[in-house]
Amino acid sequence: MAVSLAEKNFLSVLDLTRDEIEEVWRVAAAQKSGEISADEQRQVAPGRSLALLFDKASLRTRLGFEVAMNQLGGDAVYLGPMEVNVGQREAVGDAARVLGRTVDAIAARLFSHDDMQVLGELGGVPVINAMSNLEHPCQALADLLTIREHKGDLTGVEVAWVGDGHNVCHSLLLIAGMFGVNLRAATPATYDPQTDIVEKAQELAGESGGTITLGSDPAAAAKDADVVYTDVWISAGQEEGAIRRRTDFRDFQVNEELMAHAKSDAIVLHCLPAHRGEEITDEVLDGPQCAAFDQAENRLHTQRALLTLMFS
Ligand code: CP
Repeated sequence: MAVSLAEKNFLSVLDLTRDEIEEVWRVAAAQKSGEISADEQRQVAPGRSLALLFDKASLRTRLGFEVAMNQLGGDAVYLGPMEVNVGQREAVGDAARVLGRTVDAIAARLFSHDDMQVLGELGGVPVINAMSNLEHPCQALADLLTIREHKGDLTGVEVAWVGDGHNVCHSLLLIAGMFGVNLRAATPATYDPQTDIVEKAQELAGESGGTITLGSDPAAAAKDADVVYTDVWISAGQEEGAIRRRTDFRDFQVNEELMAHAKSDAIVLHCLPAHRGEEITDEVLDGPQCAAFDQAENRLHTQRALLTLMFS
């Protein structure tokens, strides 16, 4: 493999070049199709260990990393909040030094991106952001691979983001900017994405030929879209503000009425878990346009490809 990520952290989409992301997708597709056989995959990481430092719950991300390490011939060690609890039971820098002397790579889901950066600086082994308050770059790798599988070339594909301008949206903005996607984000007032991320995404889009625009009208964002993407209104840890959020987001549901604005062959993405009846209806999530479960499966394929390039 020409590309190696052995010396890299993946804390942000911006940590990988366009060529490196293309290589992740190439390896992911080859492993998924069997072009790289299961036997070959098992030779990638024998005797290697990945620590899963997770301070928040996870299905897809944790499962993807654990299954991937098993398929690559190595081990994953899950460390939940009861074991570490960064910043409470143990300082993040101390945990980083211990992990770096013990395992070959770290995938971390932490509340604070600042803590994630300390982990990256002091870990001494590749650190993967498995979601922080700022970004969810592993999700973004699976998102664009899924769009490419369904729509072909990413250049010029029309994507509507409908919902909160948070971590998943941030990583999507950045990767969309890198790959020439036309992304329209519709968020309620005060839930728009961070300005520095938007400006960086727009700068990247200027180079790639894409466009990044913000607004607060879901129907305008969805108009003639190839892809409509949403996420929950209330993430873990936001339960206290749930009543306010349900009010603020009530016009941001992805339902059949909204999908009527998109192209007839548009797909629907959702990073999951979904709160059915809030940000998305049963009809859409269970309907023929839904690609959210392809997207969830691609979490495994892209994370395994990322690990393959880190251990090669
Ligand atoms: N989309 C996502 O990150 O799922 P999990 O929280 O279940 O890992």
